[in-house]
Amino acid sequence: MIELEGIYKVYRNGALEVQALKPTNLLVEKGDYVAIIGPSGSGKSTLMNILGCLDIPSGGTYMLDNEEVHSLTEKELAKVRNKKIGFVFQNFNLLPRQSVQQNVELPMVYGGLPSSVRAQRAQSLLEKVGLGARVHHRPSELSGGQKQRVAIARALTMNPSILLADEPTGNLDQKSSHEIMDLFTQLNEEGSTVIVITHEMDIAEHAKRILRFGDGEIIEDRRRGSDRL
Ligand SMILES: Nc1ncnc2c1ncn2[C@@H]1O[C@H](COP(=O)(O)OP(=O)(O)OP(=O)(O)O)[C@@H](O)[C@H]1O
Ligand SMILES: [Mg+2]
Repeated sequence: MIELEGIYKVYRNGALEVQALKPTNLLVEKGDYVAIIGPSGSGKSTLMNILGCLDIPSGGTYMLDNEEVHSLTEKELAKVRNKKIGFVFQNFNLLPRQSVQQNVELPMVYGGLPSSVRAQRAQSLLEKVGLGARVHHRPSELSGGQKQRVAIARALTMNPSILLADEPTGNLDQKSSHEIMDLFTQLNEEGSTVIVITHEMDIAEHAKRILRFGDGEIIEDRRRGSDRL
């Protein structure tokens, strides 16, 4: 469902060129659960932003559900993002003045869904992530782990083909981190395709497949368990 061929990204800053992502091939099947690890500056977020249609590659081809994504305009990309991609960030990215429910409804507002549908869907997703009793709270009234649950509920609203998370546990304590990863595991078991960037190996071990980045490229791609037992 995700097919990258020779995808690369070069950032130009005046005369300075940074090859953030070297030409990369990658296949991710529907229902996979992938962790991306590697040192700071190795290109993890660059790849994730391209996968999430937040950034346009400098070259190469990207097929998402058999659609050529690399050739789309900004406006078309925004549509693909809304329909197919759920993004979870390290800093939650919640709107502070809006309620939990309004935050979860936001992608559905962009997607043009009627308010009755939005409210019902927000409620059921918030129950799913264990926050059914917090729908009218503001994000500032929640713990970090709870904020991330709201962000995950928001990411799920449009039934995305892929759930992408860039260091979703980076601001959480150990216990909340594993709870959030358990939630990703549950969503994956229910059929979601999940890709998570993390710095921590014990967090990556929740995934089925681990991609290791180094210096702008994938230097290792292994299925978890293939080197165990
Ligand atoms: N907008 C930009 N302009 C110029 N260079 C950039 C830009 N974004 C990223 N880079 C460079 O591209 C390289 C890869 O960055 P990237 O953010 O993908 O790393 P990362 O693996 O996500 O690191 P971290 O673990 O610190 O988040 C780095 O050298 C970075 O400085
Ligand atoms: Mg990063």
